[in-house]
Amino acid sequence: MLTTLKQLMSYMGKRKFLLPMALITAIISTLVSLLPLVFIWLIINQLFSGNDLGFNYSVAQYAWWAMGMAISGIALYFFALMLSHLAAFRVETNMRRSAMKKIIHMPLGFFDNNTSGKIRKVIDDNASITHSFLAHQLPDLAGSMVAPLAAFVLIFVIDWRMGLATLVPIIISMLIMSFMMGKKGKHFMELYMTSLEEMNTEAIEYVRGIPVVKVFQQTVYSFKNFHNSIIRYRDMVIAYTNNCENPLSIYTVIIHGFAYLLIPLAVIIISFNGEVIPTIVNLLFYILITPLFASSIMKSMYLNQALGQAEEAVNRVNDLCSTPPLKPSSNPQSINDYNIDFKDVSFTYPGSKNKAVDSVSFSIPKGQTFAMVGESGSGKSTIAKLLPRFWDVDMGSVTIGGIDVKEVDHQELMKKVSFVFQSTRLFKTSLRENICYGKPSATEQEIEKAIHLAQCNEIIDRLPLGLETKIGTEGTYLSGGEQQRIALARAILKDAPIIVLDEATAFADPENEHLLQKAIKELTRGKTVLMIAHRLTSISNADKILVINQGTISESGSHEYLLASEGIYLRLWNEYQKAVNWTINRDIETVLQEVSEQDSREFTPLFINNKN
Ligand SMILES: Nc1ncnc2c1ncn2[C@@H]1O[C@H](COP(=O)(O)OP(=O)(O)OP(=O)(O)O)[C@@H](O)[C@H]1O
Ligand SMILES: [Mg+2]
Repeated sequence: MLTTLKQLMSYMGKRKFLLPMALITAIISTLVSLLPLVFIWLIINQLFSGNDLGFNYSVAQYAWWAMGMAISGIALYFFALMLSHLAAFRVETNMRRSAMKKIIHMPLGFFDNNTSGKIRKVIDDNASITHSFLAHQLPDLAGSMVAPLAAFVLIFVIDWRMGLATLVPIIISMLIMSFMMGKKGKHFMELYMTSLEEMNTEAIEYVRGIPVVKVFQQTVYSFKNFHNSIIRYRDMVIAYTNNCENPLSIYTVIIHGFAYLLIPLAVIIISFNGEVIPTIVNLLFYILITPLFASSIMKSMYLNQALGQAEEAVNRVNDLCSTPPLKPSSNPQSINDYNIDFKDVSFTYPGSKNKAVDSVSFSIPKGQTFAMVGESGSGKSTIAKLLPRFWDVDMGSVTIGGIDVKEVDHQELMKKVSFVFQSTRLFKTSLRENICYGKPSATEQEIEKAIHLAQCNEIIDRLPLGLETKIGTEGTYLSGGEQQRIALARAILKDAPIIVLDEATAFADPENEHLLQKAIKELTRGKTVLMIAHRLTSISNADKILVINQGTISESGSHEYLLASEGIYLRLWNEYQKAVNWTINRDIETVLQEVSEQDSREFTPLFINNKN
């Protein structure tokens, strides 16, 4: 708890004094707000017994004082909130800033595991939680911790016998509270948080899965997990509520009604000393002051919960930022040669037990194209991502022109290496901006050339605003293959000497496929290239093919050599051929023939009939 508060305070920088000042002001405001009750007690005293307790004030003067104190209490409360808001906004802003600063220096691979949506949500949500904790909950809690104490002292000063008597309900209510918040309560709280989180996760899963449900025409009941998580949550909350039913009822009766429980005591006091009016006046005072106990004790019950939430918020942001940043080189060097060397490279993803890349070595001479093939999950993309330093290798080294990529200035590395990955990301802005991202200073001719080489003319001519069309707005969406071509235009414009290319896995239609291949050819012309090929025909031009299997290179050589050595490559090639032939053979005539054959039979779905 202390570490959480310490960390929150550290975000306040030089304005650390704001929070203690806010808390002290909140406490003073609570004490001042109690004073009108004292003045009312004095007024009642004077009205009933004509006794002004030696203060020599009239009823009206007391009333003015009461009003003055009430207004001052409110004003002080506002001042306290102003201070706490200043502190809270500072914390919120600095927390976001420091998280963003750390994230900017994270390895690029960090963004594969943490989507922009997730990063935004973790930082935004948790910064807001700390805001409401510091700005509202903490000052309120400071006030409500002090209020019952002050009220208790007041009661003792006014009549110690009644003060003693009020100890009884206070002790009972504290005992009930500790019972409710004790071991069992904590256990329930944990269960509550877990089942709430479970329900939220399932709800997200449910929303994500709606398209699949619709496509397969399932009913929502197919989301059993979501349904079950709601039922579990309901059962848990009902059990918790039932568990609290009796103690909470007793607590509420005692805490709200204990002024009335004092009536028998007042009768006893009167029967002993005969002071009817002063005792009744005091009793009235208790009736006024006791609601304060109830609300204050209830509020302080939430202190633990609020602190727990703030702690959780700080931890979640810390977790997000816990990936170590890429170490900048102490003596950054620039790249002058473009041959690439992987030497005994091993890499394991953070949090994973298995090596994704295991002792991989290969050398790409300048200007050559190496292609990687292999089964899904074999580690091709991971190897490719080690070159532009998405992650740093655990063992071995990756060098460009003899210089370890760790020693290369980051800007320089980004300038010299272009990468086009499986899932292309286009920004929701104009096509021109998307393409110029590769080279902001590009001239109109350069842009046009890149568009032409990437086979994008046809896409741009079709759009009403051409290059200025904004993507993702007013129904302007591009197909996967088209997006890839725009990404290729961006890379062609950047004109980096080293290209890392991870082909999209999805099959494009033959026309798109053809255009993509042409664009890739233009991009890689004369460059040093490491490409991952999912369409094996597209690697016929490669100087060398590396067959990746479970993070290692199991075979390497030319297409012909690999086929002749009858290993994994031959199997992959045969499977690929089968897939391609299946697509080509099922031309329109075959399909039409199948349909006409079906006419004579009872209708059965096409794909069930297609056994060959
Ligand atoms: N960001 C990540 N965090 C943790 N593990 C990962 C991450 N990305 C990939 N992996 C794991 O590393 C291994 C290699 O994955 P990789 O993406 O390199 O395979 P791939 O050969 O490119 O597959 P595909 O052909 O399907 O693209 C897999 O077991 C995968 O589960
Ligand atoms: Mg991949």
